[in-house]
Amino acid sequence: MRQLACLLPRQQLWRPRLPPRSTPQGSAWRKPWSGSSSGDRGEKAQPKLFNYEDFFENQIEKKKSDHTYRVFKKVMRRGNEFPYAVDYSSGKKRDITVWCSNDYLGMSWHPKVINAVSDALKTHGAGAGGTRNISGNSPLHEGLEAELASLHQKEAALVFTSCYVANDTSLYTLGKSIPGVHMFSDEGNHASLIQGIRNCGVPKHIFRHNDPLHLEEMLRSVDSTTPKIVVFETVHSMTGDISPLREMCEVAHKYGALTFVDEVHAVGLYGEQGAGVGERDGCMDQIDIISGTLGKAFGNVGGYIASTARTVDMIRSYGSGFIFTTSLPPTTLAGSIASIRVLRSEEGRQLRQRHQSNVRYLRDNLIEAGVPALHSPSHIIPIHVGDAALCTHLSSELMNKHDIYVQAINYPTVARGMERLRVAPTPHHTKAMMDYFVSSVVKIWKDNGLELSRERSVCPEECEVCHKPLAVEILQAEEKVCGRSNCTYASLQDNFTTAKRQMAMAY
Ligand SMILES: Cc1ncc(COP(=O)(O)O)c(C=O)c1O
Repeated sequence: MRQLACLLPRQQLWRPRLPPRSTPQGSAWRKPWSGSSSGDRGEKAQPKLFNYEDFFENQIEKKKSDHTYRVFKKVMRRGNEFPYAVDYSSGKKRDITVWCSNDYLGMSWHPKVINAVSDALKTHGAGAGGTRNISGNSPLHEGLEAELASLHQKEAALVFTSCYVANDTSLYTLGKSIPGVHMFSDEGNHASLIQGIRNCGVPKHIFRHNDPLHLEEMLRSVDSTTPKIVVFETVHSMTGDISPLREMCEVAHKYGALTFVDEVHAVGLYGEQGAGVGERDGCMDQIDIISGTLGKAFGNVGGYIASTARTVDMIRSYGSGFIFTTSLPPTTLAGSIASIRVLRSEEGRQLRQRHQSNVRYLRDNLIEAGVPALHSPSHIIPIHVGDAALCTHLSSELMNKHDIYVQAINYPTVARGMERLRVAPTPHHTKAMMDYFVSSVVKIWKDNGLELSRERSVCPEECEVCHKPLAVEILQAEEKVCGRSNCTYASLQDNFTTAKRQMAMAY
């Protein structure tokens, strides 16, 4: 390259755009993007140009003034000692524990995953080398897709650089290709699903969160011959609630719609082999297109869809976000295959059991201490705060005074007034760590004059589906009272009976 540069005529060499040494007016050079500053006497009036820098500054100021400006914590996880990590945010090193990671099962540092990644690095190098079409396809790509298809009991799968890209690209491509299609979208859907639906520009109908009756009302209003796609998630990333998957799919199919289901916060975590809520609830076959991530419970990075061979081939052939980007590298592919295989095995089942038991222990103890931890039937424990500035402050106090990292979740990730600390214990948090976590939260609650009360519940008094009261004594009853798959009542009741059974076995 150096030699080549010497051979080029001087004027062809790249040069930075520097200010002229002198201008006719002296040194009046301005950044070309900073707008007009003319007005010197005798100078011809210049048109006022848009001031990009001022505009960006105003936009940032808006975020700062409503406390939604994000300042990232600088945290380095300790690979072989997770959930321990080192925080560098204050400029000096501090040992902390992490309570908000989406590496839900610690698979990013599982020995089999690390070995697979390091073998792939030594054998195949760091990068993929191109798009899938141009030198970027390998047996590892196809091996991972075969593993994912088998996990979800589908004919085929397709991997993307993230699940954001998988959702956006797949929905955009379906919307652009299927003539006259309408999309039906849950109001709580993730940004990546919204982006795909919005970008393809097809008619969209937004139904109430996890409400199959409202979905049915909307489906009924569209001509039966019109193609339709119903889009929703199973585990909601911020509330931790779980959709009534079976009912939603039944309604969708009754009206001839395809179901596109995001299982990002469920894959690896639910079901006999970790295929998600569909597997747990015995209705995987009702999901026409499933999307998942390799970046959370599977501990790597990347996303995917799985479906029929034709659906996958169509998106592979037309999806711009799949076609025109460098494919995943061998390290990620090998690490993901190793991780999925562990989570499909007996070891995976034990990890999932320990995970759920830790979640129960932590949630029960937070609620017992009067902390406003929300009821949720999944592994995500939201602690309600309801104010952006306070939420950020509580998160900082936990970090600075108690060496605990739990992220404040503010608008736009959640609606204003729903600000929360989002807690995600792993199977690797010990009982002592969880006890320390609860006592630390209680301390900062008291230090900040916040109320601790078991009476003032932030949770609904009754299940929104079956309207059974959510009181502890009633939940402890053995008999089932509601058949709905996402019934808050039934899932909490399950938690109590499992905990009771485990305690009985321990004695
Ligand atoms: C529900 C949901 N879907 C999709 C995504 C995107 O997944 P990825 O992180 O693989 O891009 C996220 C990410 O956090 C998510 O919460």
